[in-house]
Amino acid sequence: MSTCQPFSIMRLTHEAIRAGLREVSALANTENEIDLNKLKQTYMDVKRTIELHAKQENDVFYHALEEKSEGVSQAFVDEHEDEAEFFGQIDQAFEKAFEDSINNGALVKLLNEWTDDHEHHLVHEESILMKILPKVFTYVESVQVVKAIIGHDLNEFENFQLSWVYNRLKEPQKEVYMGMLKGCSPENKYDDFLKKVA
Ligand SMILES: [Fe+2]
Ligand SMILES: [Fe+2]
Repeated sequence: MSTCQPFSIMRLTHEAIRAGLREVSALANTENEIDLNKLKQTYMDVKRTIELHAKQENDVFYHALEEKSEGVSQAFVDEHEDEAEFFGQIDQAFEKAFEDSINNGALVKLLNEWTDDHEHHLVHEESILMKILPKVFTYVESVQVVKAIIGHDLNEFENFQLSWVYNRLKEPQKEVYMGMLKGCSPENKYDDFLKKVA
C-alpha cells in the first residue's frame, strides 16, 4: 500500500491536464480533416478540469499558502484570470469554426497558443511550489488543506474530475493518487470515490 502524499493531488492533476492538452493538440493538428465535435468535447473536458483545479487553487490552496508565505501565489492567480479570458476567445473561435468549417486556421492557432501557455503555467507553479510546500506545511496541515481542496466543490470533484484525472494517469501514478485519496478524502467519502474509478 502506498503512503499518502497529500499534495500529489496537485502534481498528478497537472499530469492528467498535460495528457488532456496533448489530446487537444493531436486532434487540432491532424493531417486529416479535423473532427470538430470531438475536438470541442475534448477541449471542453480539459477546460472543465482546469476550471475546477484553478478554483481549488485560488480559493483553498493559495489561500492557505498565503497565510504561510505572503505574495507567493499572486502571479498564478493572475495567470488563471488571463486564461479565463482566453477561454472566452477560444469558445468564440469554436462557434465560428462550426459556422465555417472550411477555415479552422484561427481556431487551431488559438488552441496551440493556449496549450503552450498552459504548459508554461503548470511548469511555473511546479517550479515554485515544489520547493516551498515541504517547508511551509506540516504533514497534518497538508492533509487538512487537501481535504479542503477536495471538499471545495465535492460534487464536481466526485462526478467529473476524479475519474477524468484518474483515467489519464499511468499505473504507478494511479497508485499514488489512490494513496492520497485514502489519506485525504473528506469524512466517509473514500468508498464513494473508489466506486468512481473502479
Ligand atoms: Fe493553476
Ligand atoms: Fe495547478
